[in-house]
Amino acid sequence: MLKGKKILIGVTGGIAAYKIPLLVRLLKKEGAEVKVVMTPCATDFVTPLTLSTVSQQPVLIEPYNKTDGSWNSHVDWGRWADLFVLAPVTANTMAKMANGIADNLLTTTYLAAKCPVMFAPAMDLDMFNHPTTRRNIETLLSFGHRLIAPQSGELASGLIGTGRMEEPEVIFQIIRDFFFRSRDFSGKKVLISAGPTYERIDPVRFIGNFSTGKMGYALADEAAARGAEVTLVSGPVSLSANHPSVRVIPVTSAAQMAEACFAEAPSSDVIIMAAAVADYTPSNPASEKIKKAGEELTVALKKTTDILAELGKRKKAGQFIAGFALETTNENEHAIGKLKNKNADMIVLNSLNDEGAGFGHDTNKVTIFTASGSRTDVPLKSKKEIAGAILDAIVREQPIIA
Ligand code: CTP
Repeated sequence: MLKGKKILIGVTGGIAAYKIPLLVRLLKKEGAEVKVVMTPCATDFVTPLTLSTVSQQPVLIEPYNKTDGSWNSHVDWGRWADLFVLAPVTANTMAKMANGIADNLLTTTYLAAKCPVMFAPAMDLDMFNHPTTRRNIETLLSFGHRLIAPQSGELASGLIGTGRMEEPEVIFQIIRDFFFRSRDFSGKKVLISAGPTYERIDPVRFIGNFSTGKMGYALADEAAARGAEVTLVSGPVSLSANHPSVRVIPVTSAAQMAEACFAEAPSSDVIIMAAAVADYTPSNPASEKIKKAGEELTVALKKTTDILAELGKRKKAGQFIAGFALETTNENEHAIGKLKNKNADMIVLNSLNDEGAGFGHDTNKVTIFTASGSRTDVPLKSKKEIAGAILDAIVREQPIIA
């Protein structure tokens, strides 16, 4: 996926430097060309040999080769890169970057670089919280650089707080997103429901459905990759969200899903209800296991709250609400009916009649109907690609996101 992308990694002297070979490996595996420039201090934490082996490129540390006087051109390296990622970056190097101090090959390369810059600080919590560090980070952000924020946890000092470099897997994902995803949902709050609900009959039985949650989880990961802050209200599924900025609220029943969605909806810009919510729930779930008796058993059911319809009633100005419709007959008519009845801005129709679409599959085929009257047919694709097409359609309808 990263074939042809030229990524320059700048490593400075922090203990997190030992994690950088993994980042380089991940980038190389995706086909990126990776070069590494290090400060002399960084070589105490990770060896240049390790990094040159995994990057399959010489690692540069000194401005020139002391034995033959040949020059290591910071200008060439700075101009070569499509992206310069400084990880880990110390308080010291950030101070130099913020003030134009170029006293080693890494900082001179930084000054010469014309590409976008990302920086992943790593330091002790008090150093991170020092006003100088804060001011320098602000300055770097004002240059348009992207901060890969440090995480909270146990630090090398043994203290607990913010200052731990983001994990290499997450940095890798951020780099991939930088090259391949538009950030059109940046700063937007997106609420998504996913999966089935389980409606309790007695302590050991429930009424459920065959939803696996794959479509909702794909939407959550895609929206997060496009910059959204995602809350995923999920029924019982065996999936987990891949993207770190997806917050999952696990629920079991339709009533719990409704409660969680109603609590989150007021602060959401975009709402996508992809869950297969039970329409009926047992009126009086038994507190003890129902014993076998007689030839037939009747369980009385009562209607659940239609979450999508209720959110449609409560829709705030500027909020965009999308729902799904799973149909087996008169698909288009039913889907358009749901659009109106539930006051939704969009209904994504899946038909169980389509091969490879609907519950459990990794693929889906959908038709997107919007309140503005548009219709988009999306052919059979992976659920990840379908998620992308749904988000594209939302952006077309709601230009405020762009
Ligand atoms: N939905 C919901 N709450 C419910 C039932 C459905 O939020 N109690 C949402 C689903 O998440 C989906 C949309 O409504 O986005 C349509 O769901 P679907 O099951 O296709 O339609 P229903 O309204 O339940 O109608 P029917 O089952 O009769 O087709």
